[in-house]
Order: sequence, then structure tokens, then C-alpha cells
Amino acid sequence: MALLPILHFPDARLQRTARPVLAVDARIRQLAADMLETMYAAHGIGLAATQVNVDEQIIVIDISEEKNAPQVLINPTLLWQSEERVEGDEGCLSVPGIYEKVQRAAEVRVRALDAEGAERDIAASGLLAVCIQHEMDHLKGRLFVDYLSALKRGRIRTRLLKEQRQAQREEKERVRREGAA
Ligand code: NI
Repeated sequence: MALLPILHFPDARLQRTARPVLAVDARIRQLAADMLETMYAAHGIGLAATQVNVDEQIIVIDISEEKNAPQVLINPTLLWQSEERVEGDEGCLSVPGIYEKVQRAAEVRVRALDAEGAERDIAASGLLAVCIQHEMDHLKGRLFVDYLSALKRGRIRTRLLKEQRQAQREEKERVRREGAA
């Protein structure tokens, strides 16, 4: 098991389109296990492979309170979505500290392979439906901030870049201090 580094907006690698997984083998199962560990460590409810710099169609989700109901969706395809829409606050491990209202289909039906490679149809509503749509967007290179106005997205970009530069400065300073000690 290993924690994987998570890419942060506006990293261009988050805009890449993931390719289908050809075989659900030991490598893919290990990747899914590492993604779940990374998601839990970051207190997220979903993570897409794109976010950990892997261009393959893999999603992990756990919306349970107890964090004991992991789901792995490989090569997910949308079968159906409801006309009914819901609006809720969304966040993303790749857009830390930002929460904005986004509209999604209230219900979806999705077909995907699980971690054993078995095909499953999933009917989702509520938080699970929103989470699945959010994560499937990642696999197409789309982030929830792409649904916001250009002005809002620009502000978020500026704020995150500033935070990222600040974190880099602090890291440099830490390395310099430790190198000198
Ligand atoms: Ni996300």
C-alpha cells in the first residue's frame, strides 16, 4: 500500500482524458487499493485515477459514515441520467479548500467493472449519484470548477496558485534549514 500524490488545479494534467483499462489485473487492483488509501488519508469520498496522474479509467468511492464501504468503478459508462437535477455544494481533493454549488442529475445508472473485473450496473441517487458524476468527469479531464463562471474559476486559480507558491517557498526554506543544521 502506498499514498499517491494528488494533482492540484490548475495542473494541466487534470485535463487529460483517461483511456479504458484493458485488463483488471494485479497492477490495477494494487492501484485501486492505493487510491482508496490515498482517498481515506485525505478525508475524501471519491478519487479518480486522473487525480493521481494515471490516465486510466478507475474511480474509487466511499460515501459511508464509517468509511467501510469502498467501491471501485473501472471503465464506468453512463447508461441513463434523470431529467431531474439537484444542486449541492461540491469540493474536490484536487481543488483544496474550495466549495461551490454545482448542478447534477439527481439519479444516474452506470455500468462498470469492479476490482475483480466483474461487470456491475449501479443505480445511484443522492450523494452517490453526485459523487459518481463528479469522478466520471475527472476521467474526461473535467473539474467541478469548469461548471462555474470564468470569473469565479479565475479567482480560484489565482488563490490556489498563491497557496501552492507559498507551500513551495516553505518547503524550500525547510530543506535549506535542515541542510544547514
Ligand atoms: Ni474531484
